[in-house]
Amino acid sequence: MSTEPLSFIGLGYVGLCTAVCFAQRGFKTIGVDIDAEKIRMINEGATPIFEPSLENLLEQVLARGTLHLTTDSKEAIMESDISFITVGTPSQPDGKIDLQYIRSAARDIGEALKEKSTYHLVVVKSTVTPGTTRNTVNPLLEKYSKKRCGFDFGLCANPEFLREGNAVQDTLNPDRIIIGEHDQRSGEVLEALYRKFHQGHAVQILRTNLSTAELIKYANNAFLATKISYINTIANIFEKIPGADITTIAKSIGLDHRISPHFLRAGLGYGGSCFPKDLQALIAYSNEIGYKPHLLESVEQVNELQPLKAVEMVKKLIGSLQNKRIAILGLAFKPNTDDMRNAVSIKIIKRLLQEGAEVSAYDPAAVRNAKKIFREKITYASSMCKCLQDTDCCVIVTEWDEFKTLNPEDLITLMRTPALVDGRRITPPDIFRDRVKYAAVGLGPKPSS
Ligand code: UGA
Repeated sequence: MSTEPLSFIGLGYVGLCTAVCFAQRGFKTIGVDIDAEKIRMINEGATPIFEPSLENLLEQVLARGTLHLTTDSKEAIMESDISFITVGTPSQPDGKIDLQYIRSAARDIGEALKEKSTYHLVVVKSTVTPGTTRNTVNPLLEKYSKKRCGFDFGLCANPEFLREGNAVQDTLNPDRIIIGEHDQRSGEVLEALYRKFHQGHAVQILRTNLSTAELIKYANNAFLATKISYINTIANIFEKIPGADITTIAKSIGLDHRISPHFLRAGLGYGGSCFPKDLQALIAYSNEIGYKPHLLESVEQVNELQPLKAVEMVKKLIGSLQNKRIAILGLAFKPNTDDMRNAVSIKIIKRLLQEGAEVSAYDPAAVRNAKKIFREKITYASSMCKCLQDTDCCVIVTEWDEFKTLNPEDLITLMRTPALVDGRRITPPDIFRDRVKYAAVGLGPKPSS
């Protein structure tokens, strides 16, 4: 396939996964990062992130020579026709996003474009608040390139919807592609690229203006976060009603096609590097432009409190936490990742320690990252059963598949006091609650028969 060469500036989650997927479909792709160690690692076929099937694809594209890696952004821009900005936009203390990496990527691209005689398309894929592409990226590109956007080069905002743990699948088979365009030609070039990438598959491409595309990303994540805080609110109400069970409620309302069953799993709240950061940024942005977003603030408040429910449930089952040993199953912010950014486990463990408990924790992938946070303050088990040994209560914090095999016998034989708090609703209450002390998010008391 003859394709225009692409460059990706910033090889975090989005940049690396997208670059590898384009390379896998035969596009000549150049990945750029300022971190030389990261580039060395990727060049040797090792992915700096935990993502199923990415390493395998990376090996394939390195062997085929379709992915080239460098720390030299100028070289990458000179040798490509389309550059994707995929750098991080971390939160600042006031919730707003930090644009320093966006600015430096725009400057680098601008400087390289100054020496380029052919048309180049710049695509902002990083999550940025409305107006950033037009008011921050474009002026830097024009200033450093001494060229005009819409004539000498093009500019698009193209937000990303991939999920950690499903990043490759989501990139190869997206629900839709959003293209915000500075001008018609820019949108056409990017649409043509995606049509080539998805050759043979009908993919929905929506074209709009830059700010709308930027806002779609926030609207999407805020809606999903709202669904989670909504179902958690209903779960918290239902927990007080004998015989009520949130899983039945979620299943029932999810069958209404206007609601859909997705993102209705009640639990201990959402974490990760996206929802908390994007909610905060949208709230800060909204306040700044003169609208107080009450609904979004409530979504955040519900999520702030939800993890601590786990601690309350433990105390309800076993009383004071002083000198009690608690088993924590799951540290990552969700299954199939080693990522602990804004993981609810952090809040739960901190509170348990504050209240005098000892903590034994197990996670199939995130222990290395957990050690950076808790060091020697907790103990790290090498298996689920070892984690349960001589503990007074177990809390399921992340719904890894292997925890679904847990049964009452394990608790009875291994624990000091067999007690379970299911924070993610992966164990069957009927099997557990007659054999061990048991509580679960959104599960009402057993009705007296
Ligand atoms: C999220 C979005 O789903 C992606 O579309 C988006 O591209 C990404 O953010 C981003 O902005 O980059 P991600 O953070 O990887 O992806 O994780 P999700 O699978 O969405 O889960 C987020 C959190 O919500 C997790 O803590 C998960 O446990 C929680 N969750 C999810 C629930 O508590 N209940 C649910 O029903 C679903």
